[in-house]
Amino acid sequence: GEIQVNPLDNHFPPFQRHRRLRASGPLRSLLRETEVSVGDLILPMFVQEGLSGKEEIASMPGVYHFGLDNLRREVDELVQLGIPGIILFGIPLEKDDESSSAYAEKGIVQEAIRALKRDHPELLVMTDVCLCQYNPAGHCGIVRNGQIVNDDSLHLIAETALSHAAAGADIVAPSDMMDGRVAAIRQRLDAHHLENVSILSYAVKYASAFYGPFREAAHSTPAFGDRRTYQMDPANAREALREAASDVAEGADMLMVKPALSYLDVTQRIRERFDLPLATYNVSAEYSMVKAAAMQGWIDERAIVGEILTSFKRAGADFILTYHAKEFAQWQREVE
Ligand code: PBG
Ligand code: ZN
Repeated sequence: GEIQVNPLDNHFPPFQRHRRLRASGPLRSLLRETEVSVGDLILPMFVQEGLSGKEEIASMPGVYHFGLDNLRREVDELVQLGIPGIILFGIPLEKDDESSSAYAEKGIVQEAIRALKRDHPELLVMTDVCLCQYNPAGHCGIVRNGQIVNDDSLHLIAETALSHAAAGADIVAPSDMMDGRVAAIRQRLDAHHLENVSILSYAVKYASAFYGPFREAAHSTPAFGDRRTYQMDPANAREALREAASDVAEGADMLMVKPALSYLDVTQRIRERFDLPLATYNVSAEYSMVKAAAMQGWIDERAIVGEILTSFKRAGADFILTYHAKEFAQWQREVE
């Protein structure tokens, strides 16, 4: 007859044996629910105007400012390793109130895009679209009378995205958190017959201390105030759904949550609510903390990085922007 199991019974010996399915490597591999592969990873890279060679960023061991020549050589290696794409951040020689180096035809990011697409037509070249590295105030929008103004910033942000797309970027990723920028960018790109260039929106971007090492690296620390009038309050999750809904309505092709580690719940909620492809950005301090502990010999770096990247996929991210991408790819090679 049928076995009757009363869940309230205290079974001994146990009737439910979860360990049966963990008994061997092949079985665990067969039943694994999420897996990270090199094809899921995008490497953020810093390209600096006027630099020859490369310089390591002190607070981010293993991450560099690249001059254009060295960037190209490094990207050759990344392509060899099977990394599908990169996201470019520019460090210009000149900053001005109009952030004019952000959308200059011969700007460092624009030149880098052209060179990399020439070298590797298949490489996915994404660009961070923002003004903060390009103006002395170090804010993501235009400053007037001490205020970061929204609508007048959109024109320059769209101009920056257009200049990247015209240079050959496959995907533009606005990170400024002004309202309406996705629509402004979409309109501008389409008006210039760049309708096949995608927008990856930093839709859900929190005002976070986890950007500390990046701001040092990108020379983009605000000269006054902070970013809390445009980036989100880390305490809010429902607000993330509203931010994402706006960007979907404005025509974003893909969404992103940033930072990644402390916001896994937000990634999961965005994944459940929206059907767009979703990324998460494993940001600078998340990387630096792992590196610092690894250099002390306090943690097993490979295991930790594998576990961290897996958690992003488990939460629902389709792909991950991470400074660990190159090393992860090298480790995978060694295992094969
Ligand atoms: C600038 C920008 C930042 C990052 C990506 N684009 C910093 C900020 O908003 O202050 C953070 C990346 C990182 O910490 O790795 N718009
Ligand atoms: Zn910015």
